[in-house]
Amino acid sequence: MRDTVALRMPSSRQPWWQRAVLYQVYVRSFADSDGDGVGDLRGVLERLEYLQWLGVDALWLSPITVSPDKDWGYDVADYTDVQPVFGGLEAFDELLAEAERRDLRVVIDLVPNHSSDQHPWFQESRASRDSARRDWYVWRDPRADGSPPNNWRSAFGGGPAWTLDEATGQMYLHSFLPEQPDLNWWNEDVREAMDDVMRFWLDRGVAGFRLDVAHAIVKDSELRDRPPDDETYVRVDLNETFAVQRRWRKLVDAYDRDRVLLGETWVMDLPTLAAFYGSGDDQLHLAFNFPFTFSPLDAHALRQVVEETERLLPAEAWPAWTLSNHDVVRFPTRMCDGDAQKARAALMALLTLRGTPVLYQGDELGMPQADVPAEQTRDMADRDGARTPIPWNGGWQSPWLPLGADVASVAAQRDDPASFLAFCRELLARRRSQPDLLAGAYETLPAPEGVWAYRRGTGTAVALNLSDDAAQIDLDGRHELAAWEGVIADV
Ligand code: NOJ
Repeated sequence: MRDTVALRMPSSRQPWWQRAVLYQVYVRSFADSDGDGVGDLRGVLERLEYLQWLGVDALWLSPITVSPDKDWGYDVADYTDVQPVFGGLEAFDELLAEAERRDLRVVIDLVPNHSSDQHPWFQESRASRDSARRDWYVWRDPRADGSPPNNWRSAFGGGPAWTLDEATGQMYLHSFLPEQPDLNWWNEDVREAMDDVMRFWLDRGVAGFRLDVAHAIVKDSELRDRPPDDETYVRVDLNETFAVQRRWRKLVDAYDRDRVLLGETWVMDLPTLAAFYGSGDDQLHLAFNFPFTFSPLDAHALRQVVEETERLLPAEAWPAWTLSNHDVVRFPTRMCDGDAQKARAALMALLTLRGTPVLYQGDELGMPQADVPAEQTRDMADRDGARTPIPWNGGWQSPWLPLGADVASVAAQRDDPASFLAFCRELLARRRSQPDLLAGAYETLPAPEGVWAYRRGTGTAVALNLSDDAAQIDLDGRHELAAWEGVIADV
């Protein structure tokens, strides 16, 4: 046990992304600089001061590339240009420059699994069976009775993952909407084209990529039916997906300044999650831990996920933790029954574990899921409640989604030392100033029922009372914890 801990001690060569707190910006809903109701990149630029004041180190921008927005940017029609409504490439370059000046890094979303059906690659692919780019997507003949070639299903709506192209009489694969055809990752030309996309952005100065659908890029080459218990809707070739990730890792690691690959690894079993790290330094740098995100706020359950993650990850690997994102119900609602005290406890866990925490915009405000009236919904998969605009207190005229969430504005919380925002900012400051919290090993400490306690490194302990009853625990001395109260102690 001690040996493992020693291997995981902080090193002076720790890359920035291991010390960083990432902040996910859902651009459409973050800040609107030109009053058209849609958040944009100059809006983000204007709020960098806020993010710096808050104490985060890097931004992950939800997709900013050109898109018909059937899936709000996750249907890409041009991988190397910025959506005009966000301000175009020019605004992006301005944002990068200002972020750099402030020592904030910018990670962008990359969607390699599928493009939009409006992308010129797909337009060319679908034009004819003999098209030079036919094989850039996954085409198959339907069965004799007209049904799809296998039992794969689309993640949206659950219908078949295949749509017939009348003109050429074949079906194409789409893990998501019919307007999001899957690229054929068995085609070397596709791999090279995506390498070029990565280089385009890395050369421009991005700090790395959040990789959309990182768990399911390469599909089974024989298109065999998916096993009934498969968590994904299609059959994935994991080994080949890992091979593609090793290729990307080499590409990214050839750049200076420690660029990062953060995978959306939507898998619920931790051994598979651990496999996305390869041998620890040759696949993804960071992989989102969804078993943690979806755990109940329960001492035993959370401890188990964290202990198992710590046990399974290769020695060089570094966890990534998050409580909310633009696809799931916001954590104060989902995990904490809308109770602000519980949400503080969850946030304290997020920001004190070994690994890189990723805050979703609004997490710092304790923002709950919003109720979006049916007539104002925009998303086909009902995720609007997690995507409503940030309540700055002004700044939004007719926003694309209603403000909705029942939470005090940023301005009000900034002025209130007892606010959720103040609590979050204090935790971030504490984290930054304590080397143990930034880099120290995780070790579970004995604790009474309902309490989760751990040591970080050699000198810091955290105890979280995740129960409705008061509790006591010995750390540096005896601590009395009220219901849902946490403490960080020097030990
Ligand atoms: C995951 C993204 O986070 C989600 O918003 C999107 O709909 C799917 N991938 C498909 O790209």
